[in-house]
Amino acid sequence: IAGALRPRETPWWRAERERLLALATPGAPRYVYHLPTVRARARALAAIEAVDRRYYAIKANPHPAILAALVEEDFGLECVSLAELRHVFDAVPGLAPDRVLFTPSFAPRAEYDAAFALDATVTLDNVEALQRWPETFRGRALWLRVDLGRGEGHHEKVRTGGLASKFGLPVARIEEFLTAARALDARVTGLHAHLGSGVETAQHWRSVCDELGGIAERIGSIETIDIGGGLPIPYQDDDEPFDLDAWSAGLAEVRSAYPNYRLAIEPGRYLVAESGVLLMTATQVVEKGGIRRVGADAGMNALLRPALYDAYHGVHNLTRLEEAADAAFDVVGPICESGDVFGKQRRLPAATAEGDVLLVADTGAYGFAMANTYNLRALPAEEVLA
Ligand code: LLP
Repeated sequence: IAGALRPRETPWWRAERERLLALATPGAPRYVYHLPTVRARARALAAIEAVDRRYYAIKANPHPAILAALVEEDFGLECVSLAELRHVFDAVPGLAPDRVLFTPSFAPRAEYDAAFALDATVTLDNVEALQRWPETFRGRALWLRVDLGRGEGHHEKVRTGGLASKFGLPVARIEEFLTAARALDARVTGLHAHLGSGVETAQHWRSVCDELGGIAERIGSIETIDIGGGLPIPYQDDDEPFDLDAWSAGLAEVRSAYPNYRLAIEPGRYLVAESGVLLMTATQVVEKGGIRRVGADAGMNALLRPALYDAYHGVHNLTRLEEAADAAFDVVGPICESGDVFGKQRRLPAATAEGDVLLVADTGAYGFAMANTYNLRALPAEEVLA
């Protein structure tokens, strides 16, 4: 039934509790990634017939084992910097350049030159670069990233469309772009849009596909339509899993109107978020003004999403997983900022104490990738469970 909702799965880490407890080291927070979960998500997307090409947005989690697994699952890799490009060729020996997409934003000229030299597929989203750097783009095949006039996503900071956004060429300037490209003998072979991250409505991609299809018909030289990433995952206990059936049914409907183009997607979060947990150790439990706080040896240095986007991640006491979560704690980190809070009034066992292992769920996407050394705290460690 279109729109039928899948039951929420039991997270993998419940069955792996003993292995995870053995990996936890006080003072050394660690991300752990579960490759079978990555592969399961990859296969769910690979089964969708309307989609011809799948790229993984490696910025979500560039761990080499994850890249290798996804290439094995027939995904290409989407990169946004020269360092990411170099990284994927190092991490996946023998990676075919035609599986690599370069979709940077305001990159310096040298990065475009290097991407062409590596034979990656290059996406450009403005006319100015063509005008200023004709020798970089002369005679090349290019993808064009357009701004469909609106942004979407879980937070204002991850919406990548609309005139106020730095991303994408406004649709009204496409003619101008094509004229500039023609003058350089450059061919526009792909059309790309990514409007944001953590988009909840399955119909979003249907309309992006429809809009890009319409534009492609007018351009004439387009071979591939790339409708971006942005697929959400259920972070909260009562969030429904994303309805892939409704998503693919919507795509299949519009796709049939544009049979001459390959349809591509480039998700990041959907593939890896649920595969990752952050293990940290409780440092102190302190009561103040009626609020009980448990501190951990990792904070916004290890996982920036709560501080940056007010993002929700489940927090569990892995040491006391069998005990009832019968008390409320604010879960905080060791960083000298008042925003260093994983979550407020979270349910944890009342006996939660120094030395307990705390698990932060669904941190496989944009977790380690955005970690930093603020307060000179070390980067978290990483471990992969095959
Ligand atoms: N394609 C492009 C061009 C992108 O800019 C992005 C993400 C993706 C694909 C993959 O989006 P995803 O499927 O992962 O939603 N740090 C934020 C998310 C920033 C996303 C940036 N671009 C967060 O933690 O929520």
